[in-house]
Amino acid sequence: MKILAIETTCDETAAAVVASGPEVLSDVVYSQVSEHQPYGGVVPEIASRSHLEQLTCVIEDALQKASVTPEDLSAVAVAYRPGLIGALLVGVTTAKALAWSWNLPLIGVHHLEAHLESAFLAGEEIPPPYLGVVISGGHTDMHRVDGEGLTRWLGGTRDDALGEAFDKVAAILGLGYPGGPVVEKTALTGDPKAVRLPRTLLSRDSLDFSFSGIKTAVLYKWRGINAIHEHRAPDAPSPEDMCAGFQAAVFDVLAEKIRRACAQENISTVVLGGGVTANSALRSGLTERLGSRYRLVFPPPRFTTDNAAMIGARALRQFERGDFSDLELMAEAQP
Ligand code: KG4
Ligand code: ZN
Repeated sequence: MKILAIETTCDETAAAVVASGPEVLSDVVYSQVSEHQPYGGVVPEIASRSHLEQLTCVIEDALQKASVTPEDLSAVAVAYRPGLIGALLVGVTTAKALAWSWNLPLIGVHHLEAHLESAFLAGEEIPPPYLGVVISGGHTDMHRVDGEGLTRWLGGTRDDALGEAFDKVAAILGLGYPGGPVVEKTALTGDPKAVRLPRTLLSRDSLDFSFSGIKTAVLYKWRGINAIHEHRAPDAPSPEDMCAGFQAAVFDVLAEKIRRACAQENISTVVLGGGVTANSALRSGLTERLGSRYRLVFPPPRFTTDNAAMIGARALRQFERGDFSDLELMAEAQP
């Protein structure tokens, strides 16, 4: 079985062909980063227009690289929520048109479920129950997963998502956009103990996150206590120490929340996914803090940020249990 999968929830235009296994036959991602860079963040209207311009070529490329024609396909899958509404509409409308014209079933996929599925693209089946942790630009969520369709939300961020906090810290320090990779790189030569930043854990047993306070702490340490100027205070720490201190603080918080969730749910396997799990320091930091007690499963690095291979992998499972959509499928922003 082969599925064509489409992903347009935010600023990556992506298509992939995924076969049972799951085996990724092709995986094409057009990144819009350079189009949004001048604005320091994703501009929704630019994202929608860019998807519209690129998607047909990206799909053709994915089919060609996989050496398949529409006759070889068993379904068309698309991420239909959550995301930017205009961006989602381009993918959903295209997928519906292709499914209708090729007479194939349509599979609507939840983008966050697909992020967790990306860990399985390493080829290993991980038996439930496990803790599913999505750490992306829009979400920081923990779920208990007991099997297909048996997922219970345990906690999430009350303010900024962790990827968003990386992006904002990079903006404060003037490191550019997108923030995650540049903060990771800058931290490499920094001292994680030089700048002490708050670890917000909320109440004793809370499984929620809050990252806005740490971001504000970075702002004050960088610009000075009055923070009225948009430039660095003369006595501010180095960007390297600041980034290393920020990462150490958020890894401590993540590790503690994962530990709490595992203890509460009596779970010993943790499956992670989402753009922030591209960060090697996060992988080693969490492994250092939790690896002796829990099994941590990360996606192959290339499937951490938005891609369509994870949408296809998720769709394969939905196909198996007959979870199809009809042509009434609507894009859902789900704010
Ligand atoms: O999963 P994703 O591609 O899109 C969403 O679903 O949100 O995640 C994008 C987020 C951005 O905030 C980006 O800064 C962050 O993932 N990110 C990283 C790294 N690479 C991407 N954060 C930390 N370290 C990285 N290496
Ligand atoms: Zn994503």
